[in-house]
Amino acid sequence: MNNSSDDNKPLVLVTGGASGMGRAIVERLARDGWRVVMADYNGALAERETQVLRAAGLDVDYRAIDLTDEAAVRAMVQSLPPLTALVNNAGIFDERAFMDVSSADFRRMYEVNLLAVATLTQEAARKMADGARIVNIASRAYLGAKNHPHYVASKAALVGYTRASAMELAPRGILVNAIAPGLIDTPLLRALTPERRAAQLALQPTGAAGRPEDIAQAVAFFASPATGFVTGQVLFVDGGKSLGGSGA
Ligand code: NAI
Repeated sequence: MNNSSDDNKPLVLVTGGASGMGRAIVERLARDGWRVVMADYNGALAERETQVLRAAGLDVDYRAIDLTDEAAVRAMVQSLPPLTALVNNAGIFDERAFMDVSSADFRRMYEVNLLAVATLTQEAARKMADGARIVNIASRAYLGAKNHPHYVASKAALVGYTRASAMELAPRGILVNAIAPGLIDTPLLRALTPERRAAQLALQPTGAAGRPEDIAQAVAFFASPATGFVTGQVLFVDGGKSLGGSGA
């Protein structure tokens, strides 16, 4: 941990914290008084963002790691003090026509969006104190979406895993919930072609994409020790897209 770190503060690990909504989650939780470690395989970006946040007086550290490396994930958890909260945010996205998706595409998506989460959750839960919190970033797309069946399936599996974890860990008071973001303005969204991006925005009841801070707000709620008796739930933060229908 960094020199200015305060051991009395609760510790939270945020995966994929260097970019997009993970970056917003890291900053929000640090401002709320958490000691935050971001775990990201973009080590250069994680280091840069850590410096920016520390310069603002926030208690932030990072680990450069590929979360699909099971041994590295277990070693990282062992190297840290017990977590008070874990935010499984890292994920990958890929647009591909239904008929073009290969089994290798499916495997890669599952490795990052599901298996890495399962390994980290299991290892973190061994050390966590009773009453800790786990927040998984799924996607509204798990309800069904075109042109990324492997992503949709991986996020549906993550929702199932959230519910299973919630049941397994409830006796220890560890609460596990998921957030299902809709369209959020991050580098992942900007990677869409302009046509796809416009088409996605046209489907938004609010007419606009959400902000990473909207997701950070929901994470702050689920991670808070003040939020009790809520577990195994999925909160849609999607500007109403999950309501369905055209709105006409
Ligand atoms: P992003 O691409 O901006 O950030 C993802 C971060 O995860 C990156 O910093 C990347 O380096 C890290 N990462 C990816 N694979 C990793 C691995 N194997 N090991 C370590 N780090 C890894 O993405 P964004 O948009 O912030 O997405 C965050 C989460 O939100 C993802 O799980 C994504 O599926 C989900 N989501 C995003 C939506 C959007 O509109 N942007 C909508 C719904 C869900």
